[in-house]
Amino acid sequence: MKKKSPIHVCLFPAAGYGTRFLPATKSMPKEMLPVLTKPLIQYGVEEAMEAGMNTMAIVTGRGKRAIEDHFDISYELEHQIKGTSKEKMLADIRHIIDKCTFSYTRQKEMKGLGHAILTGKPLVSYQPFAVILADDLCVNEGEGVLSQMVKLYEKYQCSIVAIEEIDPQQTDRYGVIAGVEIEPGIYRVSTMVEKPAPADAPTNLAIIGRYILTPDIFDILRTTQPGKGGEIQITDALMAQALAGNVIACKFQGKRYDCGSIDGYVEATVELYQQSLKN
Ligand code: UTP
Repeated sequence: MKKKSPIHVCLFPAAGYGTRFLPATKSMPKEMLPVLTKPLIQYGVEEAMEAGMNTMAIVTGRGKRAIEDHFDISYELEHQIKGTSKEKMLADIRHIIDKCTFSYTRQKEMKGLGHAILTGKPLVSYQPFAVILADDLCVNEGEGVLSQMVKLYEKYQCSIVAIEEIDPQQTDRYGVIAGVEIEPGIYRVSTMVEKPAPADAPTNLAIIGRYILTPDIFDILRTTQPGKGGEIQITDALMAQALAGNVIACKFQGKRYDCGSIDGYVEATVELYQQSLKN
């Protein structure tokens, strides 16, 4: 953890089935898929730490125990490799375990991302919090994406979503926003639509898996009806905040890999490997 942040808790909704990676995800959480030697969720935790957070709240589901074990000490393994050249390979995860607190709750039924976030409320309590979807892996040479968003939260004191320009033909995979550009790359959101068909999309500005949410989102989610796909959508709840002018969207600096898809996962693996050869 580098700096003092007004946001202390980062929530990781990680209860989804990860069906696009079956059979790999039959008994292993998608969030534990490795890119090089690190599981996706560890990249997310490191990004949250870089943004000044030290409380990690994880919404899990059935078959996700490997996540809890990953963020815990493994005495037997550590004893085995102590004093060998392999010991350093556990240094990063040991640092995370030392610096952060982890808490878990289970989403019993997969009713959508909005429902997963509402399920996390007892872990977050009533304060602004960050959300990372670990299957969106974000890398940046400078400041991390969440860190960039915390700065905007400090300035605007409202919910913040990260956006990127996507291929207009792919709007039906994302929540899409429209709004007024108030600073270069920063929008005050007026409209949000979940997974619109390309013909119905207001723009090609898509929300990716990083949010800072003010706690009134829980009150809104409690009464949000199932939307697209019969799921409780965070986009629909955010729309209620946007109507009051309380959502800012930011085109972040950095690169996002959609590691929830095979293509994005392979791209991340290849590019991070090439990068590692240069270091
Ligand atoms: P996705 O729809 O991308 O994940 O949800 P998925 O359902 O696990 O993947 P596929 O489509 O079957 O391959 C985005 C994020 O929201 C979480 C997921 O874990 C993922 O991080 N999520 C989604 C929940 O925690 N609960 C839900 O009910 C739905």
